[in-house]
Amino acid sequence: MFHSPHLLLPLLLLSSTVSGQDDQLTCPDGDLTAYLIALIDTLYWNGLTTFEELIVHLSETDAGYDLLHSLYSSGSKTTILVPTDSAFQQAGIWPPFDTPSSLSNSSSGPSSSGQAGGSDPDDWLVDLLSLHTLQGDWSFDSLPSNGGNGITSTWLSMKDEMNDTSSQSQAFQAVAMRRGQDGASVVIDGWWGNGTTWSGPVRNGGDNGVLDNLVLLPVNEVLSSPPNLSTALTATGLSNFSSALDVVGVTDDLGRLTGGGFTVFVPVDEGWTDDVKAMMNDEKAARALVKSHYSTNYTLYSPAWSLSSQPFVLTLDSGLDLTISLSSDGVSSIVTLGSEEPPNQPQSRQSQVQAEENSTSVSTAKILKSDITLENGVMHVIDTVLVPPSLNASASNTTNTNTSLPSSNTTTTSSPTEVKVETNTTASQSGHAEKAARVDREGVKIRTLVALGLAVLNWGLLA
Ligand SMILES: *[C@@H]1O[C@H](CO)[C@@H](O)[C@H](O)[C@H]1NC(C)=O
Ligand SMILES: *[C@@H]1O[C@H](CO)[C@@H](O)[C@H](O)[C@H]1NC(C)=O
Ligand SMILES: *[C@@H]1O[C@H](CO)[C@@H](O)[C@H](O)[C@H]1NC(C)=O
Ligand SMILES: *[C@@H]1O[C@H](CO)[C@@H](O)[C@H](O)[C@H]1NC(C)=O
Ligand SMILES: *[C@@H]1O[C@H](CO)[C@@H](O)[C@H](O)[C@H]1NC(C)=O
Ligand SMILES: *[C@@H]1O[C@H](CO)[C@@H](O)[C@H](O)[C@H]1NC(C)=O
Ligand SMILES: *[C@@H]1O[C@H](CO)[C@@H](O)[C@H](O)[C@H]1NC(C)=O
Ligand SMILES: *[C@@H]1O[C@H](CO)[C@@H](O)[C@H](O)[C@H]1NC(C)=O
Ligand SMILES: *[C@@H]1O[C@H](CO)[C@@H](O)[C@H](O)[C@H]1NC(C)=O
Ligand SMILES: *[C@@H]1O[C@H](CO)[C@@H](O)[C@H](O)[C@H]1NC(C)=O
Ligand SMILES: *[C@@H]1O[C@H](CO)[C@@H](O)[C@H](O)[C@H]1NC(C)=O
Ligand SMILES: *[C@@H]1O[C@H](CO)[C@@H](O)[C@H](O)[C@H]1NC(C)=O
Repeated sequence: MFHSPHLLLPLLLLSSTVSGQDDQLTCPDGDLTAYLIALIDTLYWNGLTTFEELIVHLSETDAGYDLLHSLYSSGSKTTILVPTDSAFQQAGIWPPFDTPSSLSNSSSGPSSSGQAGGSDPDDWLVDLLSLHTLQGDWSFDSLPSNGGNGITSTWLSMKDEMNDTSSQSQAFQAVAMRRGQDGASVVIDGWWGNGTTWSGPVRNGGDNGVLDNLVLLPVNEVLSSPPNLSTALTATGLSNFSSALDVVGVTDDLGRLTGGGFTVFVPVDEGWTDDVKAMMNDEKAARALVKSHYSTNYTLYSPAWSLSSQPFVLTLDSGLDLTISLSSDGVSSIVTLGSEEPPNQPQSRQSQVQAEENSTSVSTAKILKSDITLENGVMHVIDTVLVPPSLNASASNTTNTNTSLPSSNTTTTSSPTEVKVETNTTASQSGHAEKAARVDREGVKIRTLVALGLAVLNWGLLA
């Protein structure tokens, strides 16, 4: 972003209560004034008054002004999810927009990353608007017709400054959406539940096309920032995987922001059979098992496989390949854990997949819920634990019936550096383009969260 003086402030303040008399207002940047007044009027006439007041409030702050100016000057279509007045009421947010107590300690709130300084009391409002601002034009019609999710980047930057890559890169928080049952609304699928839009965008009546780059979709929930991995794993039924991550000591490394984000497949507690739990007693086996559930190289969302006729093959941090595809019902998704990736056999993906399917020791799971967006990554919940073939073979004739996962302090002998994901710093220079290219697969344009500025739009849905 950039710095701008408070040019508009007193003017907008006036306009909030005197809709219809805008022609009295003047401003050094007349176009921007007209834009914001059209926005405020449209919100007002559609009964979205809390959001309207939020816009006015933001225009009075430096960070808010910058954001509104970006909105105005963005040449790309942008969709704003506009919480209704009752949604704001429910969330306990109303003028004069004091920081909610849950966010009053700056460390616990979502933070706009990459900005120096940053303890402005209004930062959380800027984050809130950024989270509700989606890159691209989103409506019922632009979402997959098979009931799958559409994924988009919001304008909210990820939590930590990018570490191993160019400081100009920005990673944005994603949102998952799907078509509503009613044939018109859009359901925003958050970890807290579902938000549903009104049947369509509000009319930008009377703005003479000033707001042409905006789609305003009223929604019945105020979205919350996605939780971090550890918080997400406190959800009912996921505690065994949480323990398993602790046993191996990788929870922090996994949740950290990386150039490619992360993708984790989390088995529900019911998926942990006694055999599998027994494997956790062996440190080496435990690590292979746990690292076969995530990649710290990619942020992989369901459109990569659900909108493609080809399975998607993701290399996990254990070095094993995970094949993800729609099952024959066309609705559920199946993941299959294969063998070690053979060195340099580019032609062999298909036959390798077949060979894995023929093998007796492949481990298969069904995705119960996909695309749970997290801080810095994404989580898909699966029904069984993925067991690397090598472990399954050896486990089949052990007699270890130990049914408890080791508690985390009995096996923390491995030092964190041992399990840390290695980054080749010489190779990371070109990391961005490389990663983006590597996930661009036949027919499906899916990109990692490493959006190169706002120009990268609508990944996942262009097929
Ligand atoms: C915020 O910090 C104050 C002390 O500065 C503390 O008393 C309070 O419990 C904290 N609130 C939260 C939600 O962490
Ligand atoms: C980058 O992350 C590593 C851990 O992965 C950390 O040790 C290092 O201090 C970070 N560097 C910067 C500049 O933040
Ligand atoms: C969200 O909607 C889906 C169906 O569209 C439903 O199965 C699910 O229970 C809803 N989740 C919540 C938390 O309401
Ligand atoms: C995850 O989020 C929770 C709640 O905001 C916070 O208490 C915790 O410290 C976070 N954990 C990490 C590893 O950032
Ligand atoms: C595994 O899940 C079961 C059922 O939810 C729970 O009772 C048990 O405490 C969990 N074990 C660990 C180690 O998390
Ligand atoms: C992650 O990607 C880097 C290059 O981008 C590669 O060297 C590394 O092997 C990958 N790691 C895994 C586990 O796939
Ligand atoms: C897999 O099994 C089928 C028949 O069961 C066989 O025709 C095919 O050649 C096998 N593929 C591989 C790669 O072994
Ligand atoms: C282990 O392999 C056997 C076949 O040898 C298979 O039936 C079983 O499902 C596998 N177990 C797991 C947990 O993958
Ligand atoms: C597994 O069983 C095979 C024979 O089926 C045996 O040779 C091998 O020693 C067993 N391994 C272990 C670890 O018990
Ligand atoms: C079961 O696991 C516990 C905890 O790691 C360990 O102390 C015990 O030796 C194990 N028992 C067997 C039979 O492996
Ligand atoms: C785990 O650690 C706590 C505190 O470090 C200690 O009191 C407890 O005895 C430990 N438990 C085991 C099973 O070692
Ligand atoms: C790091 O990457 C460079 C360039 O790709 C390669 O020459 C070098 O061998 C790599 N180093 C390690 C330790 O993998």
